[in-house]
Amino acid sequence: MTAADALVDERAVVICCGTGGVGKTTTAAAIALEAARRGRNACVVTIDPARRLANALGLDSLSDAATEIAHELWDPKYLSAGSLSALMLDTKSTFDHLVERYSTDPEQCARILDNRFYRNVSGALGGTQEYMAMEKLHELHTTGGFDFVVVDTPPTRHALDFVEAPGRLLQLLDNRIFALLMAPTRAYMKVASYAMQTLLRTIARVVGRDVIDDVIAFFRAFEGMEQGFRERAAVVQSLIGAETTSFVLITTPRRDALAEAEYFALRLSDYELSIDALVVNRVHPCFTETPASSLNKLAAAADPVNPGLVERYKLLADLQTMVEYETNELRKVHELIPDTPISKIPLLSADVHDLDSLGEIAGHLFGDRPNAAGNVSHS
Ligand SMILES: Nc1ncnc2c1ncn2[C@@H]1O[C@H](COP(=O)(O)OP(=O)(O)OP(=O)(O)O)[C@@H](O)[C@H]1O
Ligand SMILES: [Mg+2]
Repeated sequence: MTAADALVDERAVVICCGTGGVGKTTTAAAIALEAARRGRNACVVTIDPARRLANALGLDSLSDAATEIAHELWDPKYLSAGSLSALMLDTKSTFDHLVERYSTDPEQCARILDNRFYRNVSGALGGTQEYMAMEKLHELHTTGGFDFVVVDTPPTRHALDFVEAPGRLLQLLDNRIFALLMAPTRAYMKVASYAMQTLLRTIARVVGRDVIDDVIAFFRAFEGMEQGFRERAAVVQSLIGAETTSFVLITTPRRDALAEAEYFALRLSDYELSIDALVVNRVHPCFTETPASSLNKLAAAADPVNPGLVERYKLLADLQTMVEYETNELRKVHELIPDTPISKIPLLSADVHDLDSLGEIAGHLFGDRPNAAGNVSHS
């Protein structure tokens, strides 16, 4: 069994990570498609997919409820007993659901959901999207009726935001400022440290007194809920580190993307999390064994009266230069993380925006198999 097979056959959760634009969403959707074709009840949590891919996945509008994709679209011959569902992460409504779940009564819930500060920050607070992606993953894994959940992650500026997000929430809840803002009465604020009052006054001057009142009201409204949030964050964190959870790191063969991937891999190992597959996406196809230098010599030596041939040699030499560059970069990465299996996906001639082309991507990751139309894709 290859590492890629083990992912879809044996794991319960796959987290696709990597830097911006490398193909996380595409790979996550292709892995879920493959798992469904192998009979699993798969769901992919996507983040901001391209419009056409969203439509292909049945996500016509932003929705954080899983939508099942009609079986005949991804498995027309009904060879699989599995199912394929997708949802687009909606950070704000996932946060709302958490508030609903942990509020002590409907009145507290309404107080938080209506709070201006909450409404403004719940979708935009740093790390919230990462945390909510992991939160959604937990919800789908435990109560969604799926035995395989793939999560696409946001293009993070800081490589491990989503792994660290539950911990950061715990840190926030443990923070003294939070404890102070949670204080039940304003009298307490009066005896709060002089430094804190000065800080709040300064903030109020910049953002306005209303904002500060909203913030204080928000944290007060939170009272009684933090224990639930705390426990939840710890559970989400343990799911991320569970044995049945796999990390797939996606990159392209370009030096900058590979450098990010290396950094990612090293940081994940700080958390004792290992990468089960390194997917190198958009690899240029190799058409010849002849080195670029020889192809350039052949172009120079070709009969100038045959400009078409000269051009073809030059084109092949350029492509081969790219292939040699990518091979060299990949070799270096392999030396740095030798135990991680590498899967390559070639650069396709068009964007991946429908189930057929997703099937083609899956074919490259997992080997040839019939695509949604019943044809065999060739890797
Ligand atoms: N192998 C490929 N060949 C051709 N096009 C590809 C390939 N892989 C991905 N693409 C296209 O590249 C674009 C970016 O891919 P994708 O959205 O999956 O990246 P991402 O890592 O999720 O990006 P972001 O970080 O912005 O979320 C998409 O338009 C997708 O269709
Ligand atoms: Mg994406």
